Amino acid sequence: MARTVWDSSVGKKTVMAVSGLIMLLYLVVHMIGNLKIFFGAGEFNHYAHWLRTVGEPFMHYGWTLWLIRIVLVVAVIAHAVSAYQLSRRDIKARPSKYVHKKRRASYATRTMRWGGIILGLFIVWHILDLTTGTVHSGGFQEGHPYQNVVDTFSTWYGDTIYIVAMLALGLHVRHGFWSAAQTLGAGSRSRDRALKTVANVLALLLTAGFIAVPVGVMTGVVS
Ligand code: HEM
Repeated sequence: MARTVWDSSVGKKTVMAVSGLIMLLYLVVHMIGNLKIFFGAGEFNHYAHWLRTVGEPFMHYGWTLWLIRIVLVVAVIAHAVSAYQLSRRDIKARPSKYVHKKRRASYATRTMRWGGIILGLFIVWHILDLTTGTVHSGGFQEGHPYQNVVDTFSTWYGDTIYIVAMLALGLHVRHGFWSAAQTLGAGSRSRDRALKTVANVLALLLTAGFIAVPVGVMTGVVS
């Protein structure tokens, strides 16, 4: 049964929609959490510490965060694998006999593919930068994310990588949210306008909220 669902295109689209919505929920929470940087180092670092103690005493130190990480890794893999397989099917289904008549993927599809690849690369960079500190520009300090964030956005390439990725994120969420709603059957003639508005507002708020942090550091509001 599960195999049949997974093998169908609708099954893969459902996996994409559900995993996408899980990541979207994480992003909304992450963006709001990041805005705490405007309240100073004490509050931001305290928030990062809380992320590790949340759920205590039922949960041990760090367990809730690990649980979230596991859910996110599963969501990222499910999303990427189904996207890849759907793309392969799409390419295979194209008529290849008439090269000049080859059907090109739509603008939205191409944006989603490139956006997805950019975001995948960004997440790897971002974790190596601010979670493990491997590619961090300054002296990475575990438990002091405020200073780490300021270090990252004090470099031109840090600002560029993040801002480009956030713009890609906005476009990806805008179309992705809309597609997910259609796949999950929320779309209808009367609701489509409202769904498009929600997709646009969400994409705009996420992009603006995330970009506010590097802009805050660049303008000296956060230092
Ligand atoms: C300007 C934008 C962003 C800033 C300032 C930022 C900041 C941070 C910081 C400081 C951490 C480390 C938290 C800690 O160790 O306590 C972190 C972790 C993380 N961020 Fe971001 N983030 C941004 C955008 C994003 C975006 C767009 C995504 C996803 C597409 C994302 C996904 C993650 C993930 C998956 C982690 C790892 C969580 C973990 O396992 O500890 N972030 N971010």
